[in-house]
Amino acid sequence: QARVVVLVSGTGSNLAALLAAHGDPAYGARVVAVVSNTADAPALAKAQAVGVATAVVAPGDFPDRAAWDAALARTVEVFDPELVVLAGFMRILGEPFLARFGGRIVNTHPALLPSFPGAHGVRDALAYGVRVTGCTVHLVDAGVDTGPIVAQRAVEVLDGDDEAGLHERIKAVERELLVDVVGRLAREGYAVDGRTVRIG
Ligand code: GAR
Repeated sequence: QARVVVLVSGTGSNLAALLAAHGDPAYGARVVAVVSNTADAPALAKAQAVGVATAVVAPGDFPDRAAWDAALARTVEVFDPELVVLAGFMRILGEPFLARFGGRIVNTHPALLPSFPGAHGVRDALAYGVRVTGCTVHLVDAGVDTGPIVAQRAVEVLDGDDEAGLHERIKAVERELLVDVVGRLAREGYAVDGRTVRIG
């Protein structure tokens, strides 16, 4: 089973879906640790409840961004992951982290990239007035939500949608997609050719 470290900042519903899947050896991936940038993330309790190791590496505890990023890389490295999954991780990773784990970092984003990157993908899609949005699982590069796309699913915007309601419908689709993609990447392996990710 491929070792997976999940980085979180918030609720952890995507994490919970991974934790529900990883007990089956046939899934091919196992969450070995969950690391948060904030001690307040409810996701941490979800990991602890099933005996998965947790750590907090908070930017406020470090003199600058690079020092935080390097500490995050050292913390993740202890768990020796094949894949690092960003599941609601709301910080940008820097050079030290990318140098160590580049090519093996998977992010999930609540919009159809390259539309609406950044911290407010759902709000920005609603404000623009798109009728279809969705979610994207992609590999992480040095840009913000710019790395090669692995998979996407569409979600319709309904009349009267607000950010919270639309985000919940996206998250229902997103966690299925993330669980599917992480399992396939782990079981089948993958190759990156320019912007194309080939699984298997
Ligand atoms: C998810 O929708 C994820 O795509 C999004 O935060 C949510 C986390 O939910 N991430 C981003 O917006 C990253 N830019 P969760 O904590 O319940 O899994």
